[in-house]
Amino acid sequence: MKKITFICLGNICRSPMAEFVMKDLIKKNKLEEFFFVTSAGTSGEHDGEGMHFGTKTKLESLNIKHQNFKSKKLTQKLCNESDFLITMDNSNFNNVLKKFNNVENKLLKMTDFAPDLGYNEVPDPWYSKNFDETYKIISLACENLLNFLKK
Ligand code: 4NP
Repeated sequence: MKKITFICLGNICRSPMAEFVMKDLIKKNKLEEFFFVTSAGTSGEHDGEGMHFGTKTKLESLNIKHQNFKSKKLTQKLCNESDFLITMDNSNFNNVLKKFNNVENKLLKMTDFAPDLGYNEVPDPWYSKNFDETYKIISLACENLLNFLKK
């Protein structure tokens, strides 16, 4: 069982979207027994809250399930338990590297799995309000990530 943790700043917009898109893909590929997926934020500012309305609306428009989600802050324990820590932008990446131990070998960036789209980071829809753009990057990156992990 491999544990994948998606990380953004607030854990209400991008990383929950990645969590549920990835869970949906894993389910469609009948690979549930091999992967555990979760998400967390570096800020902890929205701890205990549900996901952002924009993420929820996008997932629901695609019939992607998103049950029992509560925003949580990334911890050293979650870092230790995870096999892959996948960050949404450079700031998340650098924060995780700075604040947590023994993460170097499992820390990745989401956009590395969608190089053809030409993004260096997943733009934050909290500011851009563009959840379609976020989904475009996250959905392709999740597909490529799963293909990478299946090997
Ligand atoms: P996320 O977006 O990191 O994709 O969940 C944000 C959510 C909340 C805030 C910033 C980004 N905030 O400043 O509260």
